[in-house]
Amino acid sequence: MAEKLPSYLCILIFFFSLLACVAESRLSINYYAKSCPGFNKIMQETITNKQIISPTTAAATLRLFFHDCLLNGCDSSILISSTPFNKAERDADINLSLPGDAFDVITRAKTALELECPNTVSCSDILAVATRDLVKMVGGPYYNVYLGRKDGRVSKASYVDGNLPKPTMPMSEIIEIFAKRNFTVQEMVALSGAHTIGFSHCKEFSTNIYNYSRVPQYDSHYNPRFAQALQKACADYQKNPTLSVFNDIMSPNKFDNLYYQNLPKGLGLLESDHGLFNDARTRPFVELYARDQNQFFKAFGRAMEKLSLYGIRTGRRGEIRSRCDAFN
Ligand code: HEM
Repeated sequence: MAEKLPSYLCILIFFFSLLACVAESRLSINYYAKSCPGFNKIMQETITNKQIISPTTAAATLRLFFHDCLLNGCDSSILISSTPFNKAERDADINLSLPGDAFDVITRAKTALELECPNTVSCSDILAVATRDLVKMVGGPYYNVYLGRKDGRVSKASYVDGNLPKPTMPMSEIIEIFAKRNFTVQEMVALSGAHTIGFSHCKEFSTNIYNYSRVPQYDSHYNPRFAQALQKACADYQKNPTLSVFNDIMSPNKFDNLYYQNLPKGLGLLESDHGLFNDARTRPFVELYARDQNQFFKAFGRAMEKLSLYGIRTGRRGEIRSRCDAFN
């Protein structure tokens, strides 16, 4: 019969397994330095190549990351494909417009990383770093992304409703969605500066520019010439639902503060963009960031660093998927 271990040894074993657990769950900037030394290089090469071939990738990935994080944390549950038994997050109505380029850049990075260091890098870390590097590539600020996230094991379309902001929501509801996740009004305004890049489909703002019940025939928050140009650009949108318009018409591909400068001039695209300028709670921050790009970049960087840590899983609370679109 095995002899009983002395109690001090038990305590020591317990202490060391606790330490191992804590170490495993601790995030760090150089998390993959030993386990996957090529991580940064592979990420850089993958996103640079993809962004050069498809310049819409940066905006697409930023929105994908935002939609992933807001729902149950940054666990890459948005990347999971539906099965006959489970309608996944990405197939919820609001996520159907998430562009394929964003999913594709993550798949490319994961494939390259699995070849170099199998079963080591989580899809959630790939998505967080790809977003940061793409934002930087189009002119935005650099911020720290702490690594060591694990991937979630649940992805359900039914969890999405009410948890992601929509352009038609009153500002109080949008503020509430962020507040529930501990983001302040100022952080919400800073994050919304993401609309300095990318585009929106006509259906997202069609009710603001057509058949408006009052004269003129568009929401009066819009600059009249801008509204008429939008009416023209979207004239065919019911037949052609892919028609879309840049979110920031002044510098659509550059990450800068022109998005905020557009808002007082009635050049915002979505009702929620106009709302940021028209609501007394959010307007001071719009004015601040319109005046001072440095302040915007600092605030955006800090808020993105916070968003990228929101609700993340570490240690045994998640897994490292071998493919980003399916559970292990
Ligand atoms: C504050 C409330 C927000 C609302 C109501 C909102 C809504 C929308 C809508 C309706 C679109 C157009 C999607 C399409 O037609 O394909 C869009 C695009 C976009 N959103 Fe937001 N959004 C909000 C905040 C944010 C935040 C916080 C981020 C990121 C941190 C973000 C990033 C983006 C990006 C980058 C695009 C362009 C996507 C592309 O070009 O593919 N949005 N947003």
